[in-house]
Amino acid sequence: MVSYDDSTDPFPVTGWDAVEWVVGNATQSAHFFQSAFGMELVAYSGPETGNRDHHAYVLRSGAVRFVVKGGVTPDSPLHDHHRRHGDGIVDIALEVPDVDRCVEHARRQGATVVEEPHDVTDEHGTIRVAALATYGETRHSLVDRSRYTGPYRPGYVARTSTYTKRPGAPKRLFQALDHVVGNVELGRMDEWVDFYGRVMGFTNMAEFIGDDIATEYSALMSKVVANGNHRVKFPLNEPAIAKKKSQIDEYLEFYQGPGAQHLALATNDILRTVDCLREEGVEFLDTPDSYYEDPQLRARIGEVRVPIEELHRRGILVDRDEDGYLLQIFTKPIGDRPTVFFEFIERHGSLGFGKGNFQALFEALEREQERRGNL
Ligand SMILES: [Fe+2]
Repeated sequence: MVSYDDSTDPFPVTGWDAVEWVVGNATQSAHFFQSAFGMELVAYSGPETGNRDHHAYVLRSGAVRFVVKGGVTPDSPLHDHHRRHGDGIVDIALEVPDVDRCVEHARRQGATVVEEPHDVTDEHGTIRVAALATYGETRHSLVDRSRYTGPYRPGYVARTSTYTKRPGAPKRLFQALDHVVGNVELGRMDEWVDFYGRVMGFTNMAEFIGDDIATEYSALMSKVVANGNHRVKFPLNEPAIAKKKSQIDEYLEFYQGPGAQHLALATNDILRTVDCLREEGVEFLDTPDSYYEDPQLRARIGEVRVPIEELHRRGILVDRDEDGYLLQIFTKPIGDRPTVFFEFIERHGSLGFGKGNFQALFEALEREQERRGNL
């Protein structure tokens, strides 16, 4: 987090509010996020609470909040969304101190307001909320919950987990949402970078990826935008022209358009986190042995807190920049389509996103893509 003056910010954002998913089976996805990801169930909405359209489960891990929704009635609009996109992220909700001020600015800048600012009230208080359209069918809800003490939002009731953690399991496997990556259409990355700048007052972070990061087969371009305090970071990818279909093209094809590609979850003990996740059957991308055996790796990363052998054993990647280093690892897609996946990240000063690992990552991704017959 960096200090900045939010009085001059046309669109002040405090941080993340929630990541909302639409999935084919919210009941089982909620179980997965509890059993495999160690999250806590905290709230629920569904037929028993008067919401006949869908189930919604609210899960927490530290500051991270997921809302997982799945249609109940056959004509639920959530089924239409799922038919098009498969399991995916529909809303990257942000906490803002002044919903109306943000929406007024966004509208002046030409943004599409998909939900006008309004209050929602129950016995726990009032939230003020609005929503803006972003890439694809994704939206950003803007939420002011400063006058609300309930478990999530009006319409939800508190609900605790019936899942019992394994003896000795850590209290949580991750503490915070680090960044959310969006995949956008070919040639439109700069438009979306401009959107976040113009509409939401986000600024470009230094890290960007151009033609220099590409394998023989796949390529992408990437830029990163962040809000004033740098809590909210959005890398944006577009496919680059390559000989064969890139991983971004594969996503765009199977998601039927732009959408959130991965969520990076911050942990302060990535070794333990990865061990626990693997024990629960979460699968990660393979990193080639050559990545660890390359003498240039040691020269590039210098001293890190654990021996390289420990990282090698788990397939964890390392990157270093002028500010420090980071450890990161990527899961395989978590749904049935080759679309959304997770990253786990442990930062030690570095503000980057693992640019130095892109080459190694792409090679691993391509092997997976080839196995699926989509390269
Ligand atoms: Fe990432």
